[in-house]
Amino acid sequence: MHDHPRTYTTPLIKLDRISRELGLDVYAKLEYTQPTGSHKDRETLMMIQDAISRGYREIAIASTGNAAISLSFFSRINGLKCHVFARENIAGEKIELIKALGAELHLAGDSLREAFQTCIEYINQHNIYDANPGRNFKKIEGDSTISIEISYQLEEEPSHVIIPTNNGTLYVGIWLGFTKTKYRPKLIGAIAPTTKLADSIAGFSKLDEQELNKALNESKGTLIEVSDDEILNATKQLYKENIPCEPASATTLAALQKLNKNQQPDKPAVLIITGTAIRFPKTLRNILQESRA
Ligand SMILES: Cc1ncc(COP(=O)(O)O)c(C=O)c1O
Repeated sequence: MHDHPRTYTTPLIKLDRISRELGLDVYAKLEYTQPTGSHKDRETLMMIQDAISRGYREIAIASTGNAAISLSFFSRINGLKCHVFARENIAGEKIELIKALGAELHLAGDSLREAFQTCIEYINQHNIYDANPGRNFKKIEGDSTISIEISYQLEEEPSHVIIPTNNGTLYVGIWLGFTKTKYRPKLIGAIAPTTKLADSIAGFSKLDEQELNKALNESKGTLIEVSDDEILNATKQLYKENIPCEPASATTLAALQKLNKNQQPDKPAVLIITGTAIRFPKTLRNILQESRA
């Protein structure tokens, strides 16, 4: 990478239908318009530049999929060798994508945590840049640019920003970003520990747990757990609003719907739509069949 690391500004759009149904202004920050289809590109671009400037030739990450897809692509085009560590039951279509992007795939264990442990052992034995959650602040810095954009794009302070959460990196980054702006919305982490549908955030792995707890405290934020029925319903509603996102990203709408029952936000709510479903034919087919959307 020869230039400065750059992230791409993503659109913030109002969801007309959903706003009408919920009786409040709901906006979607379309992170799925990033080059490889998820917000992970913000993290990757920062790390690739850091790795190159520090003389690394190889880079490694444990990932549920999106971070691996992003890191594989940008490593390949910048001449770095990328190692991806993933749980053995990672979706086949994600494996195909990662391999097509030229990364070396190491399958280890049946959870992201196990893949992560194996990845750290590998990094400790080789001279490899560590791109793992919980171990690289560049990821948080990359994600912080999301909130800075929201503060320019939205004239009114949002009352809630809802974030799909697994390791907590994105949540922490969004909180860091807001501390640099005039806005202090309540941050809601949407989690799905037992999901079969939202596999990108399955397990609530908390690899950034310390930072996540700190950010939850400082932002007076909270976590809301959503079920697969709620996620499926929310995914279907977002498709009808022309947003073909991953089920993991639709957890944001599912959490807002839950929140709305108890506590009506008085100002706009923003959903962080993190990943596109368009890269994953099997997932897409399942959702469309189940939802008859
Ligand atoms: C689509 C999608 N949304 C949200 C997240 C959650 O990010 P984090 O692990 O930073 O909490 C991920 C993480 O893999 C993801 O792939």
